[in-house]
Amino acid sequence: MTEKRTAIVTGGARGIGAAVALRLASAGRRVAVIDLREDDTADVVASIRATGGEAIGIGADVSASADVAAAVERVGEQLGAPTILVNNAGILRDNLLFKMTEDDWDAVMDVHLRGAFLMSRAVQAHQVQAGWGRILNLSSTSALGNRGQANYSAAKAGLQGFTKTLAIELGRFGVTANAIAPGFVQTAMTRATAERLGMTFEDFLAEVAKDIPVGRTGLPEDIAAAAAFFTGDEAAFVSGQVLYVAGGPTD
Ligand code: NAI
Repeated sequence: MTEKRTAIVTGGARGIGAAVALRLASAGRRVAVIDLREDDTADVVASIRATGGEAIGIGADVSASADVAAAVERVGEQLGAPTILVNNAGILRDNLLFKMTEDDWDAVMDVHLRGAFLMSRAVQAHQVQAGWGRILNLSSTSALGNRGQANYSAAKAGLQGFTKTLAIELGRFGVTANAIAPGFVQTAMTRATAERLGMTFEDFLAEVAKDIPVGRTGLPEDIAAAAAFFTGDEAAFVSGQVLYVAGGPTD
């Protein structure tokens, strides 16, 4: 039986984060949905509550330490000590290196790396006290290199090193840390990429799917299924791993 533990999903208002939040709730977790604006979390929170689950929405910028401290404290007060953390919040600021600005670089590092660091540091206190915890970071196949994404690929590769270090440091406290590296997933993020490339989303999906062995692009639920495994009670001996969920092998 799955224990009634409290999970935090950052960037949970839409896309992959929303699917993960719904999936963890259906597995019996209480879920705190964190996103930049509390209002944006309302739909996901309502969907969870509609199926009898417990959820709250919190507005916080994961790259701001005061926001993170306040958000984690509120989760503890309203839902119970958070022992599951999914670092999912993310942004893109794509550009070829010669056109990439310092702002493009810093913004991506701040949300993905600083955000995951601040959230993990705040939540591990609860996990260590409980002697149980799960940290799951969203990396990407872009960690292996992707044209126009020097900032994003560096951040996503950085998250893999971060994950492995957390696994080493926190294992003795019953806390695992793993990463999922999705390939192409249909969300607002990839819809924006299609727009930037001047393609309809449908044409873009068809084009991308040609290079994916299973013959289709990913859905947020594909990632949520892997997230349910890594955050599950039974995954206690799986730590420091990076799972590519991309419809085929990666290299
Ligand atoms: P999305 O853009 O649809 O959703 C991201 C969410 O994060 C948004 O709700 C946004 O408001 C929130 N967010 C952004 N900055 C934040 C901040 N500073 N604090 C709190 N929340 C913040 O993105 P999507 O596609 O659902 O991606 C989720 C994660 O998966 C990201 O980390 C992304 O890099 C990663 N990923 C996505 C892939 C894809 O094909 N969609 C592929 C590989 C990785």
